[in-house]
Amino acid sequence: APSTEYQAESATIVQGAVESNHAGYTGSGFVNLDNVAGSYVEWNVSAATAGTQGLSFRFANGTTAARPMDVSVNGGAPVSVTFPSTSVWTNWQTLGVNAALRAGANTVRATSSSASGGPNLDKLDV
Ligand code: GCU
Ligand code: CA
Ligand code: CA
Repeated sequence: APSTEYQAESATIVQGAVESNHAGYTGSGFVNLDNVAGSYVEWNVSAATAGTQGLSFRFANGTTAARPMDVSVNGGAPVSVTFPSTSVWTNWQTLGVNAALRAGANTVRATSSSASGGPNLDKLDV
């Protein structure tokens, strides 16, 4: 099925801010998460049917160090996802993970798991 786009700037943001000072984002901006463990973005994602689907995070990490996040679907066990350096904040890349979704409404929460915080997050495609 074609993917649906869920902008980060339209999601629930805890310890982060919507910004637009680094070009190349889609929608109206991106989320700059606070550089602390625990900052997160949570999306409400709809699935037509239950099953494993690909989650594609569009992000930028202008530092030289990878930034890890914990991804949790529907409050379940977190999966660690490592967002590599993209060299500059204006270079946006996608990183995909597979996740089990249920039919109907789901939550996808990406939580910074180190004191560096997560990367800047543009959107989630499901
Ligand atoms: C810079 C950059 C931000 C980014 C931050 C970070 O301040 O402008 O967009 O979020 O670094 O290190 O997380
Ligand atoms: Ca940040
Ligand atoms: Ca965006």
